[in-house]
Amino acid sequence: MKTKGIILAGGTGTRLYPITLGVSKQLLPIFDKPMIFYPLSVLMLAGIREIAIITTPQDQPQFQRLLGDGRQFGIEITWVEQPAPEGLAQAYVLCEDFLDGAPSAMILGDNLFFGHGLPELLKSAIQRQRGGTIFAYRVADPERYGVVRFEGNRATGLVEKPQVAPSRYAVTGLYFLDGDAPARARNIRPSARGELEITELLETYLAEDALDVQIMGRGFAWLDTGAHASLLDAGNFVRTLTERQGLQTGCPEEIAWQQGWIDDAQLAERIRLFSRTAYGDYLRQLLE
Ligand code: G1P
Repeated sequence: MKTKGIILAGGTGTRLYPITLGVSKQLLPIFDKPMIFYPLSVLMLAGIREIAIITTPQDQPQFQRLLGDGRQFGIEITWVEQPAPEGLAQAYVLCEDFLDGAPSAMILGDNLFFGHGLPELLKSAIQRQRGGTIFAYRVADPERYGVVRFEGNRATGLVEKPQVAPSRYAVTGLYFLDGDAPARARNIRPSARGELEITELLETYLAEDALDVQIMGRGFAWLDTGAHASLLDAGNFVRTLTERQGLQTGCPEEIAWQQGWIDDAQLAERIRLFSRTAYGDYLRQLLE
């Protein structure tokens, strides 16, 4: 079965108040594009075209205005509501019908990935049919994340926001799981903070030796946009890169066009829409 994609873009964004009092976090700008373009691009780079986007009920119309049904990117978007932020693992329960037994790649709507060889890394995770694959990335402040415990090179445990981190390797917000994920997620009980924790779901796979924990090396950038300063840092990172290389990152139009999911005429429509921006100029130059 083909791998389907999930973008989790719910939540209240309280750590970004007052900005997110009026708008969903995943719609905020990262330099020249809305945040959600970046995780969407990651799924598209993995070759995934059937994508569910989970939002709060009140934010959904705005996301729909931005992305519609996905046809401008040659993809098919299914809209799913998460009425209350009850945990990352809940995404699998909410998407059970959408997945219909298929394996999935879930990405958090506020996670940015950049690095040479990213498409290959994603595709190899998809090819691994059974169990799951997650990515561990070295960070200076692991306590803020789910953290991997290693014995030698072997991952033996995962701890959510530990007081004392068992390693410096954080679990990134990108999870490849097989078709069992919804059933497993339904068996999880809410944690002390009232959430279905992704860490617990992943541990069920780890306990069966069915979780591949891949190190995402230092040649990759995994950026967080969870606080005011890191939001600005991510924007500056994208700006520096884009202006230096003259290449876009997180550009769904470019990926769709390169994969042959949209044709020149469809790309030209987007170029017309963005004719007053450098983003539009960039797309135009693809056609030349
Ligand atoms: C969540 C997960 C955590 C993961 C992180 C990645 O944390 O619970 O395991 O490391 O995303 O962004 P949250 O963003 O909800 O604090």
